[in-house]
Amino acid sequence: MSLSGRHILLGITGSIAAYKAAVLCRLLKGAGADVRVVMTPLAKQFITPLTMATLSKHPILVEFFNPENGEWNSHVSLGEWADCMLIAPATANTLAKMAHGIADNLLLTTYLSARCPVAVAPAMDLDMYAHTATQTNLQTLRERGVAIVEPAEGELASGLMGKGRMAEPAEILSFVEDLLSEKKKSLQGKRMIVTAGATIEAIDPVRFISNHSTGKMGYALADALARRGAEVTLISGRTTLPTPPSVRRIDVTSALQMYETALREFDAADGAVMCAAVADYTPEEVSPIKLKKGEGDMVIRLKRTHDIAAELGARKGARMLVGFALETDHEEAHAEEKLARKNFDFIVLNSLRDAGAGFGVDTNKVTLIDRNGRQELPLLSKRETAERIVDKIETILK
Ligand code: CTP
Repeated sequence: MSLSGRHILLGITGSIAAYKAAVLCRLLKGAGADVRVVMTPLAKQFITPLTMATLSKHPILVEFFNPENGEWNSHVSLGEWADCMLIAPATANTLAKMAHGIADNLLLTTYLSARCPVAVAPAMDLDMYAHTATQTNLQTLRERGVAIVEPAEGELASGLMGKGRMAEPAEILSFVEDLLSEKKKSLQGKRMIVTAGATIEAIDPVRFISNHSTGKMGYALADALARRGAEVTLISGRTTLPTPPSVRRIDVTSALQMYETALREFDAADGAVMCAAVADYTPEEVSPIKLKKGEGDMVIRLKRTHDIAAELGARKGARMLVGFALETDHEEAHAEEKLARKNFDFIVLNSLRDAGAGFGVDTNKVTLIDRNGRQELPLLSKRETAERIVDKIETILK
């Protein structure tokens, strides 16, 4: 059992997603963990302490002391007992208080005393989640080492569609397993490069040519590699994503900058994952001043950029190289051709024809293709897809 003998302190806050905490508790127990539950006062309105006490087989902790007999619920000893504190669901309110060190309930005082890894699974409405205040608080917590189980996109309690739904209990379980497992150190001492995001090719000081890549898949890969102990350099084109913990990030703009940076960094690396959406063409000339419109049509001559992946493939030697292919037709044939031409160890094929795969979404459906065959993965979160890709990287690096 993956969590055998581990002590998990499950914190529940006042969100409609609290009902999922019952399933989560069962899954944690099923994986062998000893689970104790701390609830905020509001959480009791969403799921009863009796339910959670029955499932966890321990009394529920809400108040600083038991009003019946004055017995003190020590946040310090709870924090010491735990191997992991998992707050699921975590509301915008609790996340804000955690980020600011507010300690007005037992869950928060325990968080401030905890020395163990802390993970939070946010759950809230899409606008609350997207609000700068919430995003800033999450970034603060991330920088302090709190692990964040990304919420999913989908229908929310408000009836709106968007990002903010708490991750499913099974996904939270695997997140906690990873957080506590030795697996995360399996790439210790390995140096990996990841390219991610979209390049920007300037036409003039105002306009540019780019593409729809958001960088999510590359960032998830950089994060997964770093969590297993690899030293990760993320060469990033345009994206709005925060840098994953312990990842060294180099921002670049154009395909040429990405090419120069990747070549330089590859020298000292054990491998590279080419996830960026690099422009294949760039304007032959960049106007130093803003181009003015004329009467007729306009023609911009484009020239080829360097194929970064092919260049690294040609000089890789014993190093490992993973590529991506995003295709709309004859997917496997195109991917196999790129696998050979760019000298990849394996290639990750995305088809834009698959629902749930492609730009901006949090899920992906990919096929891993190498010279020995193919492995089709189901529709998974980008995070889970990244884990599977890193599993394969790990077998090659060993
Ligand atoms: N790639 C790269 N540098 C480029 C173009 C692509 O490193 N200038 C990498 C991508 O990061 C990806 C792989 O090559 O890992 C495949 O990219 P893709 O654009 O699909 O392949 P192309 O060779 O450009 O083929 P086409 O555009 O014709 O599909």
